[in-house]
Amino acid sequence: MLAVVPPPVTVRVPAKVNLHLAVRDVRADGYHELATVFQALSLTDEVTVASAEESGIEVTGEGADSVPTDQSNLAWRAVTALASHVGRDPDDAKIRVIIKKNIPVAGGMAGGSADAAAVLVGLAALWRLEIGRDELAEVAATLGSDVPFALHGGTALGTGRGEELVPVLTRHTFHWVLAFDRQGLSTPAVFAELDRLRAEGDPPRLGSTEPVLEALASGDPNQLALLLGNDLQAAAVSLRPGLRRTLRAGVNAGALAGIVSGSGPTCAFLCSDADSAVRVAAELSGAGVCRTVRVAQGPVPGAKLVTGDDLP
Ligand code: C5P
Repeated sequence: MLAVVPPPVTVRVPAKVNLHLAVRDVRADGYHELATVFQALSLTDEVTVASAEESGIEVTGEGADSVPTDQSNLAWRAVTALASHVGRDPDDAKIRVIIKKNIPVAGGMAGGSADAAAVLVGLAALWRLEIGRDELAEVAATLGSDVPFALHGGTALGTGRGEELVPVLTRHTFHWVLAFDRQGLSTPAVFAELDRLRAEGDPPRLGSTEPVLEALASGDPNQLALLLGNDLQAAAVSLRPGLRRTLRAGVNAGALAGIVSGSGPTCAFLCSDADSAVRVAAELSGAGVCRTVRVAQGPVPGAKLVTGDDLP
């Protein structure tokens, strides 16, 4: 009798921006304690998982050349982590992962984490696992600090190393312009640069997340713009001084405020509305300060099946 091969499953998964990223001190495990407000944006990767004769990863799209297609890819580690979690032999998991990238690679928008989260959701559907989002989030946290948020989506407060999430309800949509840089930045290198800057002097640190949560509740982008903040920004700018010019150019083009996204080098500009975002994007494209520009809105949902039933 022929074994029935389940049809491939495709998942769409969002990028994130940190509206507020307060980095506290280094912990004993080498991670920094964070207090952050994440927002998921309508800039998404699409990840297909399929049963196959031979395992492997294919990557196309934005920055595909610099994404590893071997077992070091976080998306592949998601396959082995979920297999082990449900008691399958990871070596027997014959799975093909096909990633269509729109999220910049090493761009501070958690693109690799997003792909890993998409694999978890896709495989759970492909293997018809009786597994809920909370259990998947536990597996996600073992893969990386930002993977649980890519599952979760929306807007959320993140603590611990970023993996402990509380949803932030907001009925409002915010409009963003994203400026991609020519080359990525390594997240550990940016955290290490912040440690170096802090050892040298005492750069200002962000305070409480409370005002940002109030601005989100009000839905007023002007109020939110005044409160955007990222402790990693000084470190990213120190490693990539040209970002100063990019941040200035976005505000000169009419954005309400600009910020380095996560560990950078992508810059995210908050705009007053959708029309303004289109105008800012057009002007920023012509300013010659970045490789490419995208318009996005947030919040959007986390990793979701493109077709078929979602998780229980
Ligand atoms: O968790 P993830 O593997 O995505 O983190 C990548 C790197 O970023 C870590 O190895 C660490 O250097 C740095 N990091 C940190 N503190 C955090 C999150 C990440 O120092 N809360």
